[in-house]
Amino acid sequence: MKTTLAGSAIAAFPKLTLAKTSDDFLELRAAEGEARLYGDKGGASPLWLYNDRLPGPEIRVKQGERVKVRFINELDEPTSIHWHGIRIDNAMDGVAGVTQPAVQPGESFDYDFVAPDAGTYWYHAHNMSWNQVPRGLSGPLVVEDHDDLFSGDTDINLVLSDWRLDENGVLDTASFGARHDFSHAGRLGNWLTVNGVSLPDIPLQKGRWHRLRLINVSASRILDLAPERMGAKLIALDGQTLSEPREVPGIVQLAPAQRMDLAVQPTEPGTFPLEMMTGQPFAFANFQVSDGDGRDGPLTLPPVNRLPEPDLADALELPLVMQGGAMGGMRALMEDRSEDEVRKMVQDGQFWTFNGVAGMQGEPMFNARRGETIVLESRNDTGFPHAMHIHGHHFRLLERDGEPLDHQDWRDTFTSQPQETVKIAFVADNPGKWLIHCHMLGHAASGMMTWFEVV
Ligand code: C2O
Ligand code: CU
Repeated sequence: MKTTLAGSAIAAFPKLTLAKTSDDFLELRAAEGEARLYGDKGGASPLWLYNDRLPGPEIRVKQGERVKVRFINELDEPTSIHWHGIRIDNAMDGVAGVTQPAVQPGESFDYDFVAPDAGTYWYHAHNMSWNQVPRGLSGPLVVEDHDDLFSGDTDINLVLSDWRLDENGVLDTASFGARHDFSHAGRLGNWLTVNGVSLPDIPLQKGRWHRLRLINVSASRILDLAPERMGAKLIALDGQTLSEPREVPGIVQLAPAQRMDLAVQPTEPGTFPLEMMTGQPFAFANFQVSDGDGRDGPLTLPPVNRLPEPDLADALELPLVMQGGAMGGMRALMEDRSEDEVRKMVQDGQFWTFNGVAGMQGEPMFNARRGETIVLESRNDTGFPHAMHIHGHHFRLLERDGEPLDHQDWRDTFTSQPQETVKIAFVADNPGKWLIHCHMLGHAASGMMTWFEVV
């Protein structure tokens, strides 16, 4: 983090209303735009935005409702929209080249799907994601519970984004796609924004319960956060409400694409920071608690979503071995390949493999019968952490390094540290072609992307 760059505080959390077309579609347009990512003192960065907003406008529906979005591409390059974490109809998953052709410049595509689970989700570009998402093409998608306990100004989206800014505080676009980033930790930045704003003030009210919906839309940055230092409890992960509020001491990692919902009830007026805990604590937003005589009762959570429970006794068990990358990771690749083969991979910009295979192939990594339980045991044989995402399904996190976890949470993206083994399980109940990839977008583009089919 470049802590020497000091930003200015801005209170800007407008609630947006999206225009609807006569046939009831929300209109989302991707086009070039700009924003001051480094506050008033920084220059305007050239960005790609949905509806000229950073982040894209909030889309909010009730659980079980349809999301209908007419997407219009006004960019100069093809793109598509993926609805991250939604257990969605495969045809609406928005993966260019897999579930739909990319939407060409000047063309449009109608997304229309049911949002079956309440929770915090997000949408983002899914064509050349490494280039499109970190230029601004993402936004929050909130699915409300039927009797939502938090409303209006106590239900707050915090879209967290890491940017690589130059010395003028302007987005460094020249380094997009840098091979060094792809083969190392991914594109990491030096500045964080919340809802597109540098060092914002986030208003809270004394005595009220607030639901903070944190969404990490960064290309590669894992955020180390400390909910307990904010007096906050964890109430949901990757959209899925926990069965009860959880106090978590120490650091909780929020990897790219992951979400974490916190509940906080400030007891005093004043200011407290939202901090990045990697190295020295570093505040990148400030909560401003106003005085008042509000006094909410004890925190009660909405019911959990009903997800299909894996049947571990009758599961298809598969390995997912990650190899490659710089810092010694290529060595493992060389064991089963000639030097020429490895040189060719690197020339083609492929630095990583899953089970020895780099990138998308014509054949899926596996086929699943509809309703079959899949157990994946992932082993990270690389020198870097990864954030593994599975499309169309949520899985239970079962074990790390052979140790059953105390909380076998439902997730759609899991972290994996170097040399770590992580075991997950899910019911492959959603027919279609689904991606499994690292959500460090440069890693996904340079080998860490595969797919499976549910028939
Ligand atoms: Cu959040 Cu394949 O994506
Ligand atoms: Cu990765």
